[in-house]
Amino acid sequence: MKQKIVLAYSGGLDTSVSIKWLQEKFHADVVTLTLNLGQREDFREIEERAYATGAVKHYQMDAREEFVTGFVQPSIKANGMYQGRYPLATALGRPLIATKLVEVAESEGAYAVAHGCTGKGNDQVRMDVSVRSLNPSIKVIAPVREWNMTRDVEIEYAKKHGINIKPKKSIFSTDQNLWGRSIESGPLEDPDTEPPAEAFEWVSPVDSAPDAPGYLEVGFDGGIPVSLEGRALDKVELIRRVNEFAGKHAFGIVDLIEDRLVGIKSREVYECPGALAIIEAHRDLEQLVLTRNELAFKASVEREWSWLVYSGLWMEPLRFALDSFIETTQRRATGKVKLKFHKGGMRVVGRSSPNSLYRLKLSTYSKESTFDQNSAVGFIELWGLQSRTAANAIAPPTRGGKGRTQREQHTERKPSQALK
Ligand code: ARG
Repeated sequence: MKQKIVLAYSGGLDTSVSIKWLQEKFHADVVTLTLNLGQREDFREIEERAYATGAVKHYQMDAREEFVTGFVQPSIKANGMYQGRYPLATALGRPLIATKLVEVAESEGAYAVAHGCTGKGNDQVRMDVSVRSLNPSIKVIAPVREWNMTRDVEIEYAKKHGINIKPKKSIFSTDQNLWGRSIESGPLEDPDTEPPAEAFEWVSPVDSAPDAPGYLEVGFDGGIPVSLEGRALDKVELIRRVNEFAGKHAFGIVDLIEDRLVGIKSREVYECPGALAIIEAHRDLEQLVLTRNELAFKASVEREWSWLVYSGLWMEPLRFALDSFIETTQRRATGKVKLKFHKGGMRVVGRSSPNSLYRLKLSTYSKESTFDQNSAVGFIELWGLQSRTAANAIAPPTRGGKGRTQREQHTERKPSQALK
């Protein structure tokens, strides 16, 4: 009996050519696997193409729920953004694809898994590290990385082997799932050129966005979005609807010069209307319910978390440890956030929570205020004590003075005097 290899199959040119290449080079049977992570694709067509190209068996799995629960929701809680701008859509999908590849490989008794990543990007790292963390005895093969074929050679190879390739829909290299669409290459490789309109599928051009602003109230429970406009929704459907709503209002494009893990700077364009809107809403809610100390510390945790996920270390123990911290903070992240979308822009215009730390009686400038303004004077005295002392002990070099200055003698008063 022939050995088996399980290939992560997208239906595109690279992975279609990979089926034949794996069969030829390893004399193995190729089992294909396509995951539905919420990308807008025709899965039946992908299955037909897999069999037509020579797969002995094709798996098509709906992993949307698992993707949202296991990957997207933790990322929302972590306000996951790489370099402060990219909501990690592709990065979050890869460890799940790797997990399913390993599951199928184990159940099929395959000795290897394969994926269509190139040798220049982050995805190869995410796939290889995840597979090898899950099952070190399974070999990982990356045909595109190994064969070094250019696109023209691939097309030639496909013709020679009678592979029916899909007429290329676009000049871009894309990847998509429920959390966003990543767009690379073609005219985008010139970082100084504006992305052409054809690059976009999820976000409407500003011209065709509604003239009137659109409002959307997102309800959160424990850091997770659970309702829109007061109506509880299924987790997958909720994100789909925010994508649609925000995208229709021309909101959700990111254009980023990004630092890849391998050191290359690359121009990446993203359509991630839902991710950007939900994370902005979530951040705003946290601002209402978490303390200043929690917020400041969590910001550094978020950066580290995002880096681990971006750089392919989803399985890293530190990520789990950071999740534990994040989870503790999210218990209070329950409430509602009102978003206003208009002609490509979005902002938060209202928020409320049963756990709000906002106290009108303290913040109001009206006569209802219960904040004792006199206590501020003593607070300031002590708060600035060291800074004041240091500022006055060192004479500013420009004035060429030494030791204590007039200014210090003037400002150094006894606290009791200051309070008067
Ligand atoms: N730069 C993004 C990331 O590393 C997007 C990668 C897109 N991948 C692709 N196969 N087109 O997550």
